[in-house]
Amino acid sequence: MQRIAIYPGSFDPVTNGHIDIAKRGLKLFDRIIIAILLNPGKQSLFTVEERLEMLDESMSGIEGVEFDTFDGLLVDYAQKRKANAVLRGMRAVSDFEYEFQMALMNRKLNREVETVFLMTGLRWIFTSSSIIKEAARFGGDVSDMVPPGVNRQIKTRFGY
Ligand code: PNS
Repeated sequence: MQRIAIYPGSFDPVTNGHIDIAKRGLKLFDRIIIAILLNPGKQSLFTVEERLEMLDESMSGIEGVEFDTFDGLLVDYAQKRKANAVLRGMRAVSDFEYEFQMALMNRKLNREVETVFLMTGLRWIFTSSSIIKEAARFGGDVSDMVPPGVNRQIKTRFGY
């Protein structure tokens, strides 16, 4: 039986921290499905198609990862994809409460789906898509936090 995990998120855009989690997750799972939540209610910098393209380009050489989108409940999507785990990265204590609530709710909704947390690599402890966008919006250099293709896209989006 293949061990399949869903790595869900907004990935707006993908960061080096996400890539680190996916790579390390592959030591635990045979396949990781990186799935972008289709969430029209949440304002994003990049369209879903752009985010998928950036994920694909950033992880093209990594065997065992695939990319998809989903809407509705994560646990339903996991079941549909025959995955019995959700993979999430955890950075600081500040992530804990939100992740804890989500994991418990997901477990209540479907006890067959376990959430697995990996502590983020120390290098990426302060890396988040939101903080990267915030810095880049005002011309901050984020080139060591995102893959080169993503850095180019960010610069273009902010017009420099
Ligand atoms: O990268 P993000 O924005 O922190 O990811 C959040 C995500 C997509 C993992 C979460 O919002 C999610 O799973 N949404 C789908 C709806 C759902 O099943 N929620 C969990 C039960 S409350």
